[in-house]
Amino acid sequence: MNRHGLICFYASVIIYIYKVEATTERDYGTRIIGGQEAFAGQFPFAAAVHVQTTDSKFFCGGALTGNDWVITAGHCVYNGVLFTIQLGSNHLESDDSGRMTIATSTPIDYTIYLNPVFPPEYSLQDNAPVYVLGWGQTSDTDPELSNELRFLYIRTISNAECRTIYGDQITDNMVCVAGNYNEGTCIGDNGSPLVQSYGKYYALVGVASFVSANGCESVDPLGYTRTYPYLEWIQNNTRQEEYV
Ligand SMILES: *[C@@H]1O[C@H](CO)[C@@H](O)[C@H](O)[C@H]1NC(C)=O
Repeated sequence: MNRHGLICFYASVIIYIYKVEATTERDYGTRIIGGQEAFAGQFPFAAAVHVQTTDSKFFCGGALTGNDWVITAGHCVYNGVLFTIQLGSNHLESDDSGRMTIATSTPIDYTIYLNPVFPPEYSLQDNAPVYVLGWGQTSDTDPELSNELRFLYIRTISNAECRTIYGDQITDNMVCVAGNYNEGTCIGDNGSPLVQSYGKYYALVGVASFVSANGCESVDPLGYTRTYPYLEWIQNNTRQEEYV
């Protein structure tokens, strides 16, 4: 895999999680329910990942972690033959001069609207304030993606609490987030980032992994893969100084 490709999707394998039993939807798109629209440049690492396989197309979120790397979920890249990445804009479709669309291996230049997310410095705590973001559906009944990037400020729950809902499928390398009914309970597209504010910047603490089969508007928590346990792996595979 070309190190200078914007995407090394092999990196995403870190995020691969077998779909938990509770997740029976074939539709991998998870959704932002509630929340607000992000402002331009608020989450300059947000990536829209359009995936084409030999016989289908689907959408995932991702996060820019360097000028030639995006992290997304492993199940977003399996069988993918073409990946088209949109960066630098909160709008999926409307015109935006800041947008960059990439389908080839091209390192990118940073702007205020296009900047990488940082690695976490410590293990994610329970009840930690985090942001979830994505272009996912905004309700169970509306299959369309949101044209605008949306986000929610929400908290992590303990893995013990999450296991009361999903059982032992929840491993130590996962983390769940939960919000109020109809808000934040089904957030972000698969592969989309879970971030924590570290003062002026954000750290990528998780990658969206699964959602309850009960639907996005249920009160079931959302599942993320933690990034902290994989920092060395990420560093080894991307050779970025930032991921030390
Ligand atoms: C990272 O690379 C080092 C040196 O090759 C190796 O010892 C280590 O096991 C690797 N770690 C992971 C998680 O791949």
